[in-house]
Amino acid sequence: MTDQLNGFDHEQVLIRRGGRSGLPIVVAVHSTAAGPAVGGCRLWTYPDWRAGLADALDLSAAMTVKCAVAGLPRGGGKTVLPLPPGLRLDADRRRALFLDVGDAVEDLGGRYFIGEDVGTTAPDLLTIAERTGRVMGLPTESGGVGEPAAPTAAGVLAAIGATCEVVFGTADPTGLRFAVHGLGQVGGRVARRLVERGAVVTAADVDPTRHVPGVATTDPDSLLDLDVDVLVPASLGHLLTREVVARLRCRAVVGPANNQLADPSVGDLLVERGITWAPDVVVNGGGAVYVVLRETAQVGHEEAMKRVDAIGDTVREVLTAAARTGSTPSAAVADLVRRRTA
Ligand SMILES: NC(=O)c1ccc[n+]([C@@H]2O[C@H](COP(=O)([O-])OP(=O)(O)OC[C@H]3O[C@@H](n4cnc5c(N)ncnc54)[C@H](O)[C@@H]3O)[C@@H](O)[C@H]2O)c1
Repeated sequence: MTDQLNGFDHEQVLIRRGGRSGLPIVVAVHSTAAGPAVGGCRLWTYPDWRAGLADALDLSAAMTVKCAVAGLPRGGGKTVLPLPPGLRLDADRRRALFLDVGDAVEDLGGRYFIGEDVGTTAPDLLTIAERTGRVMGLPTESGGVGEPAAPTAAGVLAAIGATCEVVFGTADPTGLRFAVHGLGQVGGRVARRLVERGAVVTAADVDPTRHVPGVATTDPDSLLDLDVDVLVPASLGHLLTREVVARLRCRAVVGPANNQLADPSVGDLLVERGITWAPDVVVNGGGAVYVVLRETAQVGHEEAMKRVDAIGDTVREVLTAAARTGSTPSAAVADLVRRRTA
């Protein structure tokens, strides 16, 4: 089917200029085969809106895989709000933009539910909720289950434990050296927890105000040259280019950033270099698992967190299968998805 469509395999993509804000809005619905599409809303600066569209297409497709791996009855979607370089939103225009986003989501008639992602926060979701009920992860005081960043970080920590067990023979990070790329909502939480557990952590963020106690900082490029045990990508996607992988001095890469491989061939290069990469679609599913289970399946906090912790088991299964069959971790995930959706 995909071939007949010249590579286009999304169900629907909504692109419009917001009526109030005048800014571009892209909502990509990749699949609703398993259930309504879910995916966060990214507000970021792009060289032009088409780059934002490309990101929305990639990120929504990854969400479909993420939901399938986690066994969630949901499909993949994503909203990207591509800001032109140099534009700073004042409070009024920001509010106008998120009201426009709410209208766009509502117009999709329940095919897509929106949540937070890079660049958006709980107050933005509340603005969206003024125009549509199709919002996930609202603050608890507004009747939601809260931001997904905490369960996402919990899932990442479970994935780090499983990866360390496979690579270093122990899930205990004490004394291991980590490099965290991006100290935002998820990267900041992961770095803090690793320090608490006795790891040696260095981090970098383009925003110089981001700091975590006990974490040494450097610039984002130099971080990639550090002699460490584990690299934790927690900024934006496509960090792992062929050039970057050739420079890495770590034994494992495991972190929350979406779409870490700049292209699929990078997966082979990581294998060639003996670097174990835990696929992001498995590692960063904790927020989606928690929010979907709590808000749509009425599952309690403890039970939902157990499902988040199970991300560690899936990572172990994927890495072990890849090592056993001599395939890449991406191929092992594709195989897992085939079996789980059969
Ligand atoms: N928040 C979640 O629940 C969740 C769930 C799944 C996946 N993710 C993914 O995890 C990553 C981090 O998400 P987040 O919620 O922490 O976002 P965030 O916006 O809170 O943090 C991202 C951080 O990365 C920094 N950054 C951006 N470009 C950078 C660069 N080139 N070098 C270094 N730092 C850079 C930003 O300044 C920011 O501090 C994203 O790729 C996101 O899509 C997040």
